[in-house]
Amino acid sequence: MVSTVPPNVEISSRHYLEPPGQSEAVSPNQLLLPLTATVNDQDHLEVGGCDVPLLLERFGSPLYILDAESLRVACQQYRDSFQRYYPGESLVIYASKAWNTLAVCALVAREGLGIDVVSAGELYTAQIAGIPADITYFHGNNKSREELEMAVATGCRVVVDNWLELKTLANLADGADPTPILLRVTPGIECHTHEYIRTGHIDSKFGFDPDQLEAVFEFVSQHPSLNCLGVHAHIGSQIFELNPHADLGGVMANWLAMAQGHGLTLSELDVGGGLGIRYTESDDPPSIDTWAKTVCEAVLMACQQRNLPLPKLICEPGRSLIGTACITAYTIGSQKTVPGIRSYAAVDGGMSDNPRPITYQSIYRVLLANRMSAPLSETVTLAGKHCESGDILINNAQLPELVPGDVVAIPGTGAYNYSMASNYNRVPRPAAVLAHQGEAELIIRRETLQDLLRQDCLPESLNG
Ligand SMILES: Cc1ncc(COP(=O)(O)O)c(C=O)c1O
Repeated sequence: MVSTVPPNVEISSRHYLEPPGQSEAVSPNQLLLPLTATVNDQDHLEVGGCDVPLLLERFGSPLYILDAESLRVACQQYRDSFQRYYPGESLVIYASKAWNTLAVCALVAREGLGIDVVSAGELYTAQIAGIPADITYFHGNNKSREELEMAVATGCRVVVDNWLELKTLANLADGADPTPILLRVTPGIECHTHEYIRTGHIDSKFGFDPDQLEAVFEFVSQHPSLNCLGVHAHIGSQIFELNPHADLGGVMANWLAMAQGHGLTLSELDVGGGLGIRYTESDDPPSIDTWAKTVCEAVLMACQQRNLPLPKLICEPGRSLIGTACITAYTIGSQKTVPGIRSYAAVDGGMSDNPRPITYQSIYRVLLANRMSAPLSETVTLAGKHCESGDILINNAQLPELVPGDVVAIPGTGAYNYSMASNYNRVPRPAAVLAHQGEAELIIRRETLQDLLRQDCLPESLNG
């Protein structure tokens, strides 16, 4: 699918900025650019009070630029909305698969959020960042025995996905110090999003089949080494509809009622994440507040109808917390025109720092960060530098006439970009900075050529 925006000499990259003065009220996931994005008197894009082309001069190119303000505001909006609409206890946990790094974990924890992790590596990072175990939730559909042992040793909550894990954990833990668990169940709810990020339908690799749930509750009730705290479901990602999450409340409340039949009073209900963000003007996701209201009201009503005590309500957003907070800035290099077909402009990154276009056919917008007022007079396909024809970041982007050395910025690259980045073609992964009130701090160092060899071994037999 290609962009449908025609070249337009009337508009410039400024067109992607929101009108000033409303940053506090809006939900960051409904914007294309970070809350603090603006244009300075050099006609440069600024994020977090920092001049984007100058950041590239200082930290190198390409560069992930994370706006602290956008991430903080999104955390606060989730937290405040859950407190506003849900009379019971609530907890927002950051689905750190979106971007798990020390600084991001530490920042969201300061905003009062817990963490969802899906591997020993993410758990380790969260621990080093200082996240308390009782607000750390360990997910994953195939946790290894070593990962389960690590989870038990740290005391975090384990979101058990299947029978193998359940039985392994029952044997690992002892009755004196039972392991806190939640059960992930497939809710059988469909939503409209890319098939790779849809998880709530019955044919999903994640979670217990609902038909198994009676047997699972029975097993848990007979194993004092397991402290079953609650149930979990996650229906998918980049979702704009509200109905699937409204329906989820009733489905999950039925599971709580079923648990009661096995003598289990479950105190936690985790509805997963999934709220989408605006990657292009045609994306119109609900606000964080609207999503939270839908979820809270659905769970509240479902519990009241079934006469259930209100569980602690947990949600675990990833993309809608951090997606919009980050832009990736690149430098333009070579250009090529195929007469009558298309013009390419290549950047110094691509599928290794943003694998979403090649994986999910994701569509992005792009801005010319060093000449924000230049008219969008060209239709250009923005290509990456990797040896793969499919390494195209944006098809038919609207840009001004480009020259080598121009700086372009792609918004909406905070979620599932760095966390899915690779070293394809032995390209070092970019640096990342946290921008706030005119200061930029390094949160991830740029990889060096030496870093690329860190794991390589040259056997004696080949040396010399
Ligand atoms: C179990 C679970 N929880 C939360 C999330 C976060 O989803 P999103 O980033 O769409 O909010 C995911 C990602 O798909 C997930 O698999």
